[in-house]
Amino acid sequence: MPATAPAARIEKILRPSVLQQPVYEPGRPIDEVARELGLDPETVLKLASNENPFGPAPKALEAARRALTGVHLYPDGGAYHLRGALAARHALAPDQILPGNGSNELIELVGHAFLSPGDEVVMGERAFIVYKLVTLLFGARPVEAPLRDHRHDLEAMRAAVTERTRVVFLPSPNNPTGTANDPEEILAWAAGLPEEVLLVFDEAYAEYLDRPADLRPLIKEGRLVLCLRTFSKIFGLAGFRLGYGYGPKELIAALNRVRQPFNTNAVAQAAALGALEDEAFLRRCREANRAGLDQLGEGLDRLGLETIPSVANFIAVKVGPARQVFEGLQRAGIIVRPLVGYGMAEWLRVSVGAEQENLRLLEVLPRVLGGVRG
Ligand SMILES: Cc1ncc(COP(=O)(O)O)c(C=O)c1O
Repeated sequence: MPATAPAARIEKILRPSVLQQPVYEPGRPIDEVARELGLDPETVLKLASNENPFGPAPKALEAARRALTGVHLYPDGGAYHLRGALAARHALAPDQILPGNGSNELIELVGHAFLSPGDEVVMGERAFIVYKLVTLLFGARPVEAPLRDHRHDLEAMRAAVTERTRVVFLPSPNNPTGTANDPEEILAWAAGLPEEVLLVFDEAYAEYLDRPADLRPLIKEGRLVLCLRTFSKIFGLAGFRLGYGYGPKELIAALNRVRQPFNTNAVAQAAALGALEDEAFLRRCREANRAGLDQLGEGLDRLGLETIPSVANFIAVKVGPARQVFEGLQRAGIIVRPLVGYGMAEWLRVSVGAEQENLRLLEVLPRVLGGVRG
């Protein structure tokens, strides 16, 4: 028997920063909440992770089923077919594309490739929290610029860039605020960043926008811009964990050096290829999301609650004692997301559901609020 407890021995050899590392709190899974509260999982509604309420793209499912027969073989780690299809979609070359195990993996690869202790990383104060977590993981320093009217303040971000800045993160739309910056404003700002700073432009929700910013002109010039997309949102494939980055081929080559050889699996690659062909599904989801955003925005407004006008597939709403409201909703079988970790202790984030799901939230919420406020 070792003389000391495992925790003490682990602590002795652990990188010191690991003990300080904040841990990401994901939206709670339906099964877990049902088990904990004795609910029937079939009745639990998850509006907590900005997933697609209409399920996976049907063509993605067909393609995934076909790919299952080949899972005794390792996947093509280079994702040849998927990169080809994505290159065609964005009018880029395949060597400008890098698939990842969700776009989260690509954010981590940026850390592996570019961040050392003492480096600075510029981001918005209430930007998607993984930027900060990855920055801290690599011993670098997050430099947070406050948002203005819940939107990224590009001028403030530019002013935060110093000689030590290696990476700047800009999400548009941002999670959890649901706000986007003007496409032309983003392009001009990105062009004005120092040439030796990497801009990571996170487009996880770009497919919900009428007119997403297009940074490909900068990529064509060889500027250090990495755009991130995901199959987790409008394509309905969050469970497969597939995202991708695109940028200048030299940047993609650098990131390729630090990834695992089989970072994306064969079934997910096939599903993504299927999803890319399902334009009709994407169109329906985009339209339904717009209607759902209106429904939730107007409904929450009628309840007298402040919301942040959103262009994504979720909406932030100020409810006061958010932790209690979150727990009350959960007991009623609805999982949403408290935003305490974002310094928004009075706010919840609610993903846009299908019409009946949104209705259920709007019906249950006043009861829960009444109970909490007494
Ligand atoms: C802004 C943003 N970027 C990236 C991600 C990561 O998505 P995934 O790793 O599922 O591709 C999310 C997920 O919620 C997000 O909101």
